[in-house]
Amino acid sequence: MKVTVVGAGAVGASCAEYIAMKNFASEVVLVDIKEGFAEGKAMDLMQTASLNGFDTKITGTTGDYAKTAGSKVAVITSGIPRKPGMTREELIGINAGIVKDVTENLVKHSPDVIIIVVSNPMDTMAYLVHKTSGLPKEKIIGMGGALDSARFKYRLAEALESPISDVDGMVIAAHSDTGMLPLYSKATRNGVPVSEFLSEEQKASVIEETKVGGATLTKLLGTSAWYAPGAAVSVMVQAILCDQKKMIPCSVMLDGEYGQSDICLGVPTIIGKDGIESIVNITLTAEEQLKFAEAAKAVKEVNGDLKF
Ligand code: NAI
Repeated sequence: MKVTVVGAGAVGASCAEYIAMKNFASEVVLVDIKEGFAEGKAMDLMQTASLNGFDTKITGTTGDYAKTAGSKVAVITSGIPRKPGMTREELIGINAGIVKDVTENLVKHSPDVIIIVVSNPMDTMAYLVHKTSGLPKEKIIGMGGALDSARFKYRLAEALESPISDVDGMVIAAHSDTGMLPLYSKATRNGVPVSEFLSEEQKASVIEETKVGGATLTKLLGTSAWYAPGAAVSVMVQAILCDQKKMIPCSVMLDGEYGQSDICLGVPTIIGKDGIESIVNITLTAEEQLKFAEAAKAVKEVNGDLKF
């Protein structure tokens, strides 16, 4: 099955690489606006195929969407990333125009496509795709929770001094420094609540480091991260192409779930061949419910800046 990745920059190329390395897609088409850039990235990646042992065909195009026709999944990573000190919300002006334009082109050539939105501010960009694409809501999925949960598990494992595979945890709500909600009450090590092992001070530190995970990397790298974002997208694409029905926290259009409507926000979802197969209803503590509602309010304010 064919996967299109729009934006052959840091995240797009990383995502194409992980998809190819896992060998579950027949073809990945990279699209970029910079002349020759996607073609170059595709060629470089294809030259790793015999070294890394994959058969996925990777091609690149400078804006010729006819080459994306018949894609099962399209990932939108096109746009600008943040620089140190910037919030994701500050990217809205430029990225909204790009995401809208890209979506129109994708749907024109692949009317049944499932779109994974990565460009920031992601929850708002996913909302924009809902409002402009005409696709059913099951087919528009924002990538944030998969990455933020991986960062949460990294911080939990570090505090617990445990292997990451022993740790489980999830982040929901908004993909923003203030709106992220790491579900500490449900995080476990080998099935035992982490609160049994960590002090209140360690708890506060894990939550804070998770929330500013992206900003910490942006400061270190001078631009936003790409390995973990690319890997997170590849897990979502694999869940769709292999019909895994896997539980992944994703930003989806809510219609009353978690007390919210007409907003894309991160919640646990089951992802399979049709995109979002269902939203998982987990019981939140009173404090978590309050934080979820606050995150929703902030995202709605950003959504208010969109012009359709
Ligand atoms: P980048 O600058 O390395 O790559 C972006 C690419 O998009 C560039 O190659 C650019 O030429 C291309 N592009 C711009 N306009 C285009 C158009 N109209 N059509 C096709 N291609 C176009 O940026 P990077 O680091 O890959 O980040 C991409 C986006 O992903 C940013 O908005 C960033 O904030 C976001 N991001 C989101 C994450 C998430 O968890 N949702 C995680 C990391 C990044």
